[in-house]
Amino acid sequence: MEQRVLSRKEFLRTGAKLAVGLTAGIGAMTLFPKRAAGAPSTIPDLPWPYVELDVEEARRRGHQGFYCSDRACSYGAFHAIISMLREEVGEPYTLMPTGFLEWGRGGAWGWGTLCGALTGALTAMNICRGKSTASKLGDELLGWYTQVEFPTDISNRYAAEGRFYDTRNRDEQVQSMCGSPLCHISVNTWVAAANVDATGPERRERCGRLTGDVVAYAVQIMNDDLKDSFAPLYVAPASVAYCMNCHGRDGLNDSLGKFECTQCHGDHTGRLANNWRESLAPTHAAGGHYPVPFIPRTTIRVTIPSAGAVWLAVYDIHGRLVKNLIDLEHFAQGLHDVSWDGTDNFNERVASGTYFYRLQVGSHTETQRIVLV
Ligand code: HEC
Ligand code: HEC
Repeated sequence: MEQRVLSRKEFLRTGAKLAVGLTAGIGAMTLFPKRAAGAPSTIPDLPWPYVELDVEEARRRGHQGFYCSDRACSYGAFHAIISMLREEVGEPYTLMPTGFLEWGRGGAWGWGTLCGALTGALTAMNICRGKSTASKLGDELLGWYTQVEFPTDISNRYAAEGRFYDTRNRDEQVQSMCGSPLCHISVNTWVAAANVDATGPERRERCGRLTGDVVAYAVQIMNDDLKDSFAPLYVAPASVAYCMNCHGRDGLNDSLGKFECTQCHGDHTGRLANNWRESLAPTHAAGGHYPVPFIPRTTIRVTIPSAGAVWLAVYDIHGRLVKNLIDLEHFAQGLHDVSWDGTDNFNERVASGTYFYRLQVGSHTETQRIVLV
């Protein structure tokens, strides 16, 4: 198999870890005996066996299944994987229908929620991989989806060269990234970029190619995992960690989710890029603090990017100022340790719990969580 390392940019454009390199010569490792049709059988526990599948065949079947009897994305993705496992493994896959995955189309009967191609691929993954593997690979598939430019270069090329099973549309299609696993956002950002109708044949073809791309990547990472060579490519946008620092389990604990927060909410703290696309570029943390948690004094280690006036303060979880640690003092560039003894501006010991410190140096600001026990 042709193996090469893709740059992040290439990864986002092609949507694949591999260039078109077919997984040739896969042996059909039969873990479950193939039975004669009609032979009585019981349904085995999950997960069912998985063998290495051909990534590019998966892409073509995903695209084909999308058009099959107008069953669309979720069926297309699910059927592609299950039909290949029927051929490679046999039972129990031959005993299971695939048509029931039709409901996921258009983000669940047109509601625009989870992209149906993801619904189908994640369901197949969950059948043939156990919970811990399925969730690990599913996390990668979902994250990857939010940052890929669909349809990928490979799908566009297959269409142009007539290499899909269904060749009704051979146009080079506009590529767009949507930042979300939601059908509504995925479809609408593409429709706007391509300037076509949401119900038109171009949009359907785009979703067909996308279905192929999603199935191909799902099969790719299941194959990698089977060979112990799975390495996630998705890097979560820094904004998610930033928002969840305050809103997640160890903070206000009033929010669940891993997708790009600013796409729907904007940023009430006024510190992130206004355009969510910019926040997809991962930023590096400029500081850290140790130890966590601390008694009764903590050292906040800050990196000052360039010499200037520094302002550092501690806030409580409701955003109220607790303690000014540095008030516009001049600091040289580099690492500096600042200690906080767990008292407020009146030198009273504060309650244990979660706090935040905010560092400002010129136009650079940074917020980090600290736990006082
Ligand atoms: C420094 C901590 C902090 C950070 C970082 C933070 N928040 Fe908040 N957020 C708060 C606090 C405190 C409230 C008020 C909560 C309350 O009153 O219960 C709040 C309120 C909200 C609310 C509800 C109030 C409203 O504005 O309608 C939303 C939605 C929200 N934040 C989203 C976000 C998002 C999205 C991000 C990331 C861009 C983010 N927050 C980052 C602390 C934070
Ligand atoms: C697809 C759109 C979308 C995304 C992405 C999203 N949210 Fe929300 N969120 C909503 C909607 C809609 C509501 C409910 C309406 C409201 O109160 O704004 C909500 C509610 C909230 C609330 C409660 C607001 C209140 O009034 O108390 C918080 C806090 C919040 N979201 C934080 C986050 C965080 C943090 C993230 C990122 C992990 C995030 N949201 C991602 C759409 C979204």
